[in-house]
Amino acid sequence: MSYGGRGVGRVDGFVVFVDDAAPGDRLRARLRKVKRSFAEAEPVRIEEPSADRTVPRCPHFGPCGGCLWQHLDYAAQLRAKQAIVEESLRHLGGLDQVAMRPILGPEDPWYYRNKMEFSFHPGGRLGLHRRGRWDEIVDLSTCFLQSPRTAEILTEVREFVRAHDIPCYDPKTHQGLLRHLVIREGRATGELLIAVVTASEHFAQARALASLLAARHPELTGFVWAINPAKGDAVDVSGFHVLHGRPYIVERLRGLTFKLGLLTFFQTNSAQAERMVDVVREMAGDAAQHVLDLYCGVGTFALALASSAGRVTGIEVVPASIEAARENAALNGITNATFHAADVRRFEQVPGVEDTDLLVLDPPRAGAGARVMGAIARLAPRRVIYISCNPTTLAPDLRELVAAGYAVRAVQPIDLFPQTYHVECIVQLERAAP
Ligand SMILES: C[S@@+](CC[C@H](N)C(=O)[O-])C[C@H]1O[C@@H](n2cnc3c(N)ncnc32)[C@H](O)[C@@H]1O
Repeated sequence: MSYGGRGVGRVDGFVVFVDDAAPGDRLRARLRKVKRSFAEAEPVRIEEPSADRTVPRCPHFGPCGGCLWQHLDYAAQLRAKQAIVEESLRHLGGLDQVAMRPILGPEDPWYYRNKMEFSFHPGGRLGLHRRGRWDEIVDLSTCFLQSPRTAEILTEVREFVRAHDIPCYDPKTHQGLLRHLVIREGRATGELLIAVVTASEHFAQARALASLLAARHPELTGFVWAINPAKGDAVDVSGFHVLHGRPYIVERLRGLTFKLGLLTFFQTNSAQAERMVDVVREMAGDAAQHVLDLYCGVGTFALALASSAGRVTGIEVVPASIEAARENAALNGITNATFHAADVRRFEQVPGVEDTDLLVLDPPRAGAGARVMGAIARLAPRRVIYISCNPTTLAPDLRELVAAGYAVRAVQPIDLFPQTYHVECIVQLERAAP
C-alpha cells in the first residue's frame, strides 16, 4: 500500500498504483494515466483476492471520501501503515538502520473522531465529499467515524432542513444558505457542541433547529449558528450566535483540561492523542530545563511536559490558538508556560529560546522544511521529538537533522486515523556529543 491509499502493483517490474487494492491481490486493472516511471489504474476484476480483504462496514464505503481503507482488515491496515513509515524513512530519509517500534493501534478502530465537519448540498443533502470531488456530496445515512449519536444528528438536521425547505449552498454557483454542520464531542466529558454554518445572516429557523436538537439531546452543551460569507470551502466564520448553552466544550486528555471552541484545532482522536502524550513524555525522559514546542496549537504537548520542565515555550502562527493555549495553561494551573503567536520559520527571533534543551515539533502535513531544520541545528537542543502526520515529509526533514549531527534513537508509529491511510509518527533524536 502507498501513502495516499492505493495498492502498489507491478507489471514486469513497472510500478502501477491501483485504487481499492489490497496487499496480495492479483487483479486486472485498467490504466488511467501512464508516466515515465509509474502508472495509475483502476481495478476491473479481482482474479485472486488478498487474504487481507474484509467486508466494508459502512454502506457508503466507495463513493464516500471519508474512508479509503474499509476493505482492509484492521490488522492489515496497521501492517500497511508500519510498512509505509519504514519505506518512507528508508527511501526519502536514507534511514535504513533505525529502530522502529511496532505501531500503536487503538482499542476500537471505529467511532474515534471527536470532531466532524459535514457539508450541505442542494436538495437537502448532508454528508461528506464524494471521493475526489469538491462539488459533490454523499448524502450520509450513517457514519462510523464519530460516536453513534452523530448519525442521529445527521438524520434530525436533514429532516428539519427538508421539512422547512431551507436552501442549501451550492459551491459552484455560491447560491443557497446552509453550508456546514460541525459536531464536536468531548470524549472524556461527553460534552456536545453542534454548529450550523450559513452563507448569510438570513436563517429564520435557526432557533427552532436549536430547540429541536436540545430536546432530542438533553446533554447538548451548546448550539452555535455561525456565518461564513466567503467563497472558499473551508469552515471559517465571520461571526456567530450562541442559541443554546455555551460556544465551547471541555475535553480532558491525560489529566489536562482543554477548552475547545468551534474552530479550535485539536487532535481529532482523543483516545490515541492520550497515547501520543504518553510516548512524548516517555521520549522526553529526564526533566528538561527548557522545552520549546514548535507548531504548538492549543498547547497539547507544551502543557503535557510543563510539570517535568523548568519552563516551556510554545510557538504557533494562529493567534486564536495561542490565546486558547494561554487559557488552557491557566485552566490547569500551569504557571511556567509562555506562548507566542509567530511563524516557526522565524522562531530564532522569539525571546528566550536560546537555552532550549528539549525541542518538540508537530508541523502540518507539509512538514517543517530545510530552513526550520537548519535553525534547529543551530539552536542545538540536546534532544528533539518530531511528531509527524506525514511520513513522506517527515523523512526528508529527518535527513537534514541527521546530516547536522543528530541520531534517530526511536521511531513510534501510531494510528490516529483507522480506516484511512493516514499515520502519525513520533521520532526521538539526540545530538551526538560535540
Ligand atoms: C499538526 S498541528 C499541531 C498542533 C498541536 N501540536 C496539537 O497537538 O494540538 C500543526 C499546527 O501548526 C500550525 N502552523 C502551521 N504553519 C505554521 C507556521 N509556519 N508557523 C507556526 N505555526 C504553524 C497550525 O496552525 C497548527 O496549529
